[in-house]
Amino acid sequence: MQLDVVTLFPDWFDWFRAQRHVSNALAQGHELRALNPRDHTPLSGGQVDDTPFGGGAGMVLRVDVMDAALKGFYDVDPVQLRSERRVLALTPGGRMLDEKFVDELAAEPAITLLCGRYEGFDERIVQHFASDAVSIGRYVLSGGELAAMVVCDAVLRKLPGALGHADSAVEESFSKALDGQPEYPHYTRPAEYRGWRVPDVLLSGHHEEIRTWRRLRSHERGAEGTPGA
Ligand code: ADE
Repeated sequence: MQLDVVTLFPDWFDWFRAQRHVSNALAQGHELRALNPRDHTPLSGGQVDDTPFGGGAGMVLRVDVMDAALKGFYDVDPVQLRSERRVLALTPGGRMLDEKFVDELAAEPAITLLCGRYEGFDERIVQHFASDAVSIGRYVLSGGELAAMVVCDAVLRKLPGALGHADSAVEESFSKALDGQPEYPHYTRPAEYRGWRVPDVLLSGHHEEIRTWRRLRSHERGAEGTPGA
């Protein structure tokens, strides 16, 4: 999988790339590039954004700058690009990221993520260059970078070889293996701490009973919407 993040802050991704599960995925041949639209801006002084028409606070990423940048990176008309690869515009009002959406993205060979800054994008970037507008929650971040990292993290951990244990991503929250429910609770040593005992069934060694117990807890959490699940 090739993940390209178009961002005015490519350095932010150096830290992300260095994290173990990400570097594992990259060692398997997956790619994560951070591309700076400023490198291709047709405007003088490296300008990339402008004040919003109609007034208001903040700055908006210009459509002509994104057009030149995508053309520069991919050597195709950006209007065509989205039929060749998934192009995600990170924006708080977009389609909410969930496990189903992540599975869909993890099946793609190549994804480009466009990060807005300050007040976001000129809407024509979303309309004409993006295949999807994506939100990681109904709150406003100061830019799309952290949202892009969330998307990349969720996608990369689905790819074979990214997680240490082959089964780690199979039976986890919202997976098919758990009927789309949150994951069951986990416990480790000590079996008792300050009087708080681990459920006996988990210490019993009865695999079938453990499976049944886990499935029940998972469904219970799904019904309750337990925080932290
Ligand atoms: N950019 C700013 N806020 C965002 C959010 N909540 N989701 C995706 N992109 C964003």
